[in-house]
Formats: sequence, C-alpha cells, structure tokens
Amino acid sequence: MNDVARSGALAFAPLIIEIAYLVAAVLFIIGLKRLSSPATARSGNVMGATGMLVAVLATLLHWDIVSWWWIVAGIAIGGTIGVVMARTVKMTGMPQMVALLNGFGGGASALVAGDEYIRFAAGSIDAPMNVQATIMLSVLIGALTFSGSLVAFGKLQELITGRAVTYPGQKVVNGLIFGGTFLLAAYLVAADANMPLYLTLSVAALVIGVLFVMPIGGADMPVVISLLNSFSGIAASMTGFVLGNNVLIIAGALVGASGIILTKIMCDAMNRSLTNVLFGAFGSNVTAIGDTAGADGRSVRDITAEDASILLAYARSVVFVPGYGMAVSQAQHQVRELADLLQSRGVEVKYAIHPVAGRMPGHMNVLLAEANVSYDQLIEMEQINPEFDRTDVAVVIGANDVVNPAARHDTASPIYGMPILDVDRAKTAIVMKRSMNPGFAGIENELFFADNTRMLFGDAKKSLTALVQHVKAGV
Ligand code: TAP
Repeated sequence: MNDVARSGALAFAPLIIEIAYLVAAVLFIIGLKRLSSPATARSGNVMGATGMLVAVLATLLHWDIVSWWWIVAGIAIGGTIGVVMARTVKMTGMPQMVALLNGFGGGASALVAGDEYIRFAAGSIDAPMNVQATIMLSVLIGALTFSGSLVAFGKLQELITGRAVTYPGQKVVNGLIFGGTFLLAAYLVAADANMPLYLTLSVAALVIGVLFVMPIGGADMPVVISLLNSFSGIAASMTGFVLGNNVLIIAGALVGASGIILTKIMCDAMNRSLTNVLFGAFGSNVTAIGDTAGADGRSVRDITAEDASILLAYARSVVFVPGYGMAVSQAQHQVRELADLLQSRGVEVKYAIHPVAGRMPGHMNVLLAEANVSYDQLIEMEQINPEFDRTDVAVVIGANDVVNPAARHDTASPIYGMPILDVDRAKTAIVMKRSMNPGFAGIENELFFADNTRMLFGDAKKSLTALVQHVKAGV
C-alpha cells in the first residue's frame, strides 16, 4: 500500500471501527434476546459469537496501537482452547466451565486496567481522576471476580470442600478488609501514582474474592456464578470506560445486567434473598433422614416397577417431573423412551419444568433437549400447575424440594414460600429416588407420605429402564 492509500485508509478507520462496533452491539442484543427461548437459543449463541468476532476484527484496525500478530495468535490459541473445552465438557460440568470463563473475563479486565495504570505511573499517558477511578473499580471487581470464580470452580469440581466455610466474627473481618480496600482505592485516586500501593490493592481484591465465596455452600454456587458473571461484565464495562472503547462498555453492561437478572430469577424461584444466599451459609449442615418412617411415625408406600408400569400404561395423562436426580442418574434418554412408548399407546405426555430444578438454570431443559424431547412438551411451572388436578399419574424423577408441598403451607419450613410443582394434586404420584435422603434443602418431603404417592426406590435410570421393559412386555 502506498503512503496516500495508507493515510486514506487510516482516516476512515475510526469510522469503520465505530460502525463495526455498532453492528457487534446489535448482534449481542439480538443474540441475548434469542437466548431466552430453547427454540432460538442456538442461533442466539451464534449471533453473539459473530458479534464478538466482528468486534475483535474491528479492533484489529487499531494497527497503530497493537501488533496484529499478537491478536491473531490470541484468537487462534483462545479459540482452539474454547472449542476443545466446549466440545469435551459434560453437561453436568457446565457450571464449572462458566465459572472459569467468568474468572478469565474478570482477570482480563483487571490486567488491561492495570496496564493503563502502569502507563499512567510511568508518565506515558495522562489519566484524569475519573479515569483513575474507573481503573480502580475495574481492578477491584475484575480481580475479585477472578479469584472468586476460581474458588467457585474448585468447589464444584470438588478440588476444595463444597461446604460453607465459616468461623465466628467472619462477617466483621470480611467487612473490615473490604472497607479497607475500598479506602485504599479512594486514596490511590486522590494521591499521585503509587505502584506498591496499587499492587497491594490488586492482591487485596484477590483475597476478597476468596473470602467472598468460601462461606457459601457448594450447592449455592450456580447463584454465585451468575453473580460473578454479572461482576465480570461490570469489570469489562469499567475497562471500556478506561480505554474509551464503546463495544466493551456495551457488551460489559449487557453481561452485567443479564447476570444480575438471572441471579434475581434464581433467588426468587428458591424464595431466598440474595443476602441469604451470600451470607446465610446454606449447606453447612445437611440432615440425612434415610428412613421410610417420617418424623411423626408416618410411613411411605412403595411400588414395584411392574405395578407402576400398569398405572402408566392405562393412564390417560402422565406428567414427568424431572429434578436433580435425573441429572445425577443421566436418565433423560430413558425418560424420553418411556414417554414415546406411552404416547404410542395414546397416553398424553408432558414434562413439568421448575425454574430451579437441578443445579443450574435451564438444567432440565438442556438434558431433555439432549434426549430430543420436543420443546412444546416442556411446560413451565405456571402453565402446568393448574393441570395436575386433571393428571392421572405424575412421575417424579429425582426431584425433591421442587415438589415439596410444605413450601405452600408450612411457615416453619426453610423452603416456605418457594413456588413448587403441585404434584400432590395429581391422582397418583410415583416418586423415583434411591432412598429417603433429603434434597438440596436438607428437609423431609411430605409428598412421600401422602396417600396418593407411591415410592419407586432405586437409581432413576434403572427404574425407568425397568418400566420401559414392563410396558413393552405388554402389560
Ligand atoms: P433436590 O431437592 O436436590 O433433590 C434431588 C433428589 O434426587 C434427592 O432427593 C435424591 O434422593 C435424588 N437422586 C439423586 N441421585 C439420584 C439417582 N441416581 N436416581 C434417582 N434419584 C436420585 O432436587 P430438585 O427437586 O431438582 O431441587 C433443586 C434444589 O436445588 C432446590 O432446592 C433449589 O433451590 C436448589 N438449587 C437450584 C439451583 C438451580 S439454578 N437449578 C441453584 C442452586 C440451588 P436420593 O439420594 O434418595 O436418591
């Protein structure tokens, strides 16, 4: 390219970059919207990824500030690792992977903001107070997201204890460390550049991330990961302000807002406040009941797979209610097989989906989609609940808390007020689980003792396989 052509291209570069950033932002927004339904989620994902590619390519036009080859190498290496991770991770390992990706996002924002601070300290750039403030926020939030996400990953991957780690006076200690760090950040903004204090701030932010997540039980990690996801977005947005990069500001704000909305949806569906999730140390002690007699001497009625198959084969309507146990047992394909078999006999089959069944948002949708269950058979809680009165058999597959009627009336229950699937209102409920052990909330379930409930004990996959065989055998 000769000098005239090069200077012409350079003159247009800022305009092209801004237009490309606008296109990327629109792709992010439409992609995010499409993620809200399983039917459009796949294309939404592709749109979001395309938006990111457009944004990265546009950033390459800033050839005055970076070496192209570093970025091309980054895309190649990062892209390859991402594809391998996404292809090899098991569906049950998805929350861990999201935790790692959030952590890397937060860490990247902290590093970029840190680089700006180093250049400011060296006198290479000028940074007014508002830019310094955003640098501090970016480093604080980014670094705590990084370390907190690594702890969340460690808990879910069982590399460290999944229990809520607490000790007396913990909240006061954490509050003091957090308050001190915030004051240090404020001092750094007001004072001249000071690298040793800046490094102290970065280390303190990493420590806060660890202290923030350690007292939260492993089973609450999905909510924490969603919150950290929001933090990683806020950190990216702050870094966008530091760099004056519009697409980073927009993408970060979208991640920050969607993460906090998802966190709220999860908390509402569990009828718990975010404060209770973060500071309630839920999951530090879980009771094992393990007896077929209830606390007040009531006992459960069990049923054999053969008898259960007769109930199912002669029912007019059956609703499957999957829960965490279906994920543990990986029984989704057997559920689908049984459902198909019943449908071929003229039984009306639906699936009831509770928003927090399982251990991550959309857990049941993802598993059932993997087994090719059609989306229109997956019915949300609000729509399916009025139908249980007319349902002949509700088949509970490893769900527990989300079908516990105590949530409706027992004010002393820890899950009181949590919206549940009204399985107890079906003519008969068949509950598949291995024992009388409790679910996530650690409490007894009165559904199991109801007159119209039959317990089919055993691993869900094995029980479903037996049911399929009996129905096929022509009961
Ligand atoms: P849970 O209440 O946790 O109950 C799961 C049941 O599955 C257990 O009672 C267990 O009983 C059974 N089970 C485990 N492995 C099994 C297997 N191989 N075969 C058959 N059954 C098996 O599950 P849920 O009803 O889905 O409720 C989810 C809970 O997690 C709620 O309390 C919710 O608030 C909480 N939570 C959810 C999320 C999200 S986003 N989904 C996030 C955080 C917390 P056995 O051991 O006797 O078999």
